[in-house]
Amino acid sequence: MKRRRVKTAAQTRRATPKGGDGPIIARRSNPLILQKQTVVLTRKLAAAPKAEQQLEHSSVQLAVLVQSIKDYAIYMLDRDGRIISWNSGAERIKGYTHDEIMNHHFSRFYTDSDRKSGLPTQALRHAAAYGKFEGEGWRVRKDGSQFWASVVINPIHNDSGMLIGYAKVTRDVTERHQAQNLLEQKNKELEAFASVLKRERDNKLMNVQAITATIAHEVRQPLAAIAANGSAALRFLAKTPLELEEVRAALKRLISDTHRTSEVFDGIRALFGEGNQKRKQVDVNEIIFGVIQSSRKELRDHDIDARLELASKLPPVEGHRRQLEAVIDNLVHNAIEAMDATTDRDRVLRVRTRPSGHDVITVAVQDSGPGIDPKRIDGIFGAFFTTKSHGMGLGLAICRTIIEHHGGQLTATSDGKTGSLFQFALPIKSIDETAWTSFRHS
Ligand SMILES: Nc1ncnc2c1ncn2[C@@H]1O[C@H](COP(=O)(O)OP(=O)(O)OP(=O)(O)O)[C@@H](O)[C@H]1O
Ligand SMILES: [Mg+2]
Repeated sequence: MKRRRVKTAAQTRRATPKGGDGPIIARRSNPLILQKQTVVLTRKLAAAPKAEQQLEHSSVQLAVLVQSIKDYAIYMLDRDGRIISWNSGAERIKGYTHDEIMNHHFSRFYTDSDRKSGLPTQALRHAAAYGKFEGEGWRVRKDGSQFWASVVINPIHNDSGMLIGYAKVTRDVTERHQAQNLLEQKNKELEAFASVLKRERDNKLMNVQAITATIAHEVRQPLAAIAANGSAALRFLAKTPLELEEVRAALKRLISDTHRTSEVFDGIRALFGEGNQKRKQVDVNEIIFGVIQSSRKELRDHDIDARLELASKLPPVEGHRRQLEAVIDNLVHNAIEAMDATTDRDRVLRVRTRPSGHDVITVAVQDSGPGIDPKRIDGIFGAFFTTKSHGMGLGLAICRTIIEHHGGQLTATSDGKTGSLFQFALPIKSIDETAWTSFRHS
């Protein structure tokens, strides 16, 4: 036993560079061997020059400390970065034996690109300047394979504060790094998934909100008419002599407004893809005429001159009558409200229709109101955009949806001073319902 131990210590000494003057190489974890090595080296130290002694002394201490450590590469560098000690953990992690690596520069453990960018030198400089360098990165083993290293470099100074070398501890944390990467990747995937879920939830909420708001917006008018005709009927009933004819007329209007309300609901259901309201041949001129007729009182109250320029041979379009009526009604009412601000010129509402080629008709609603700032024109079609105290900001959003639903396009132009022009083009032949449905859900 004893002989074996002595022999091992001798081997270790032989393994040190230049006649055994280098630091001890701790290769065995047997404490008796270590003790023997330490005694030998301590004796050698006494005879060595002072600076060397100090460095050697540090090496011995480090060797004692690291002897039993296999999971860490622990080694020392001289002040230029050359390797002067090497533990068994270093051999295990990096693949070089002690003899192979002694006096080589530690930069050989770095990747080509890290070497080119001067990382090894920077690490030593940083350690010398700040007392420590810590970092992680890819390092290269003897066989060329790479591992993810966690590195700590500490400078070593002699008693007079002179830098004499570095202590370097490297740990192979590839598994942790891969686990971390995997975790980060999974986290990213989870985040992406969560944001998709959130978007879908928001979309659903938006849809519910939009549908609710659309219903409120569209039934407001027929409900107001129902209430007005109900009140009128009560008023006529209270009169003496009883004005039965007037009562009957008011109740008939009330009933027809009720039907209109239910048609509006059908239109909304069709708009959101749930109704089975069939498209029919619709005469757009007739719709415009009807809207202007029912807005007669408002036009008069607002002192507006309504001028219709309706094409005499306008082909019918395939569409939803109530929906197209809602578009004209919204555009006309926006124009009426806008012209409230017109005091220096005539308040004129123009509604024009004309065939455009063989398969499209165009409709234009123009007013002499204050117009719309051209920079804000795109925004007015957004849901809930309004500049009115009582507005819901839905009229134009609904109009655009309906027109697109019919395969057309609604646009607005204005110079921001002398009025606005809203126009839409409608294809005569309706677009395929399935195509629309997939467009709407895309
Ligand atoms: N003819 C117009 N002239 C000037 N501004 C207009 C005209 N039409 C629309 N706008 C502007 O566009 C905004 C949005 O119009 P939209 O019809 O969508 O909503 P609203 O009229 O404000 O409210 P509501 O939902 O009750 O119709 C208006 O608030 C107004 O600022
Ligand atoms: Mg409006």
